[in-house]
Amino acid sequence: MSEKTREELIEEVADLIANAKRVMVFTGAGISTESGIPDFRGPDGLWTKVDPNDFTYQKFVSDKEARKRLWQLNRYMGLTWKDIEPNLAHYAVAEMDKMGKLDCVITQNVDGLHQKAGVPDDKVIQLHGNMQWVKCIDCGVRHSYEEVERWLEAGAEDLECVQCGGILKPDAVFFGEAMPVHETMEAERRSSQCDLCIVIGSSLVVYPAALMPQYALQSGAKIVIINDGETGMDRAADVRIWDKAGEVMSEVVKKVKSKLGVD
Ligand code: APR
Ligand code: ZN
Repeated sequence: MSEKTREELIEEVADLIANAKRVMVFTGAGISTESGIPDFRGPDGLWTKVDPNDFTYQKFVSDKEARKRLWQLNRYMGLTWKDIEPNLAHYAVAEMDKMGKLDCVITQNVDGLHQKAGVPDDKVIQLHGNMQWVKCIDCGVRHSYEEVERWLEAGAEDLECVQCGGILKPDAVFFGEAMPVHETMEAERRSSQCDLCIVIGSSLVVYPAALMPQYALQSGAKIVIINDGETGMDRAADVRIWDKAGEVMSEVVKKVKSKLGVD
């Protein structure tokens, strides 16, 4: 059978969405690279620049130098969380919600861009937490990352809790740290109930997060993968598009709108 063209694949994805009852979108760092945030395992991924072993929970809580390196990471990447903006792919997913074609987004990302693009908070399940907050690991007091960025700009190198002197840590899940229980259970439930799972921008190699599209597959859902690199589920995909998420998802949503007769 000859290879399908990009247009035929996009048409197929639009048909699947138009006919689906419960669409679960599963996203990884690849949906945010067009917003200027590096992914981890792509050609210029973060793990090609810094050592992931510096980002384990154990290292963070036990090694002051590792903590100082982490707090400088955003500056090193030229990132300030308050300035990052959603891109076409995030807005396309939010459009799906407006058309009543999104049950939920299950994301491994900690950038909060799905919510910023307009997906309601209660439809975004953040398996790896969110970098918009920093929490004391001892007493739980929370600070916004914006506030913390001001301390870092003023020269702070390591951050201690003003309440109890404990260690402040970004509210993201580090390697060696469990995913939040409620979000994990909810993600498992929604993954098993969906009839269409669309994976966008994930290599699907980090567990247990990458189990979610597997639960969808096992429950009989159709699997679409939009990713411009290898993934751990390529052979299981009903439709596989190797291209940039922003362009593909914009074209897909435009076709869904015309199929549903919405403007
Ligand atoms: N469009 C489509 N795909 C893209 C784009 C893009 N614009 N940019 C990057 N990609 C692809 C990359 O080729 C890669 O295959 O997105 C994928 C991102 O994979 P990873 O970098 O492994 O990111 P992710 O799957 O989210 O990693 C999971 O690993 O390091 C931990 O906790 C971290 O949540 C993260 C987890
Ligand atoms: Zn504290």
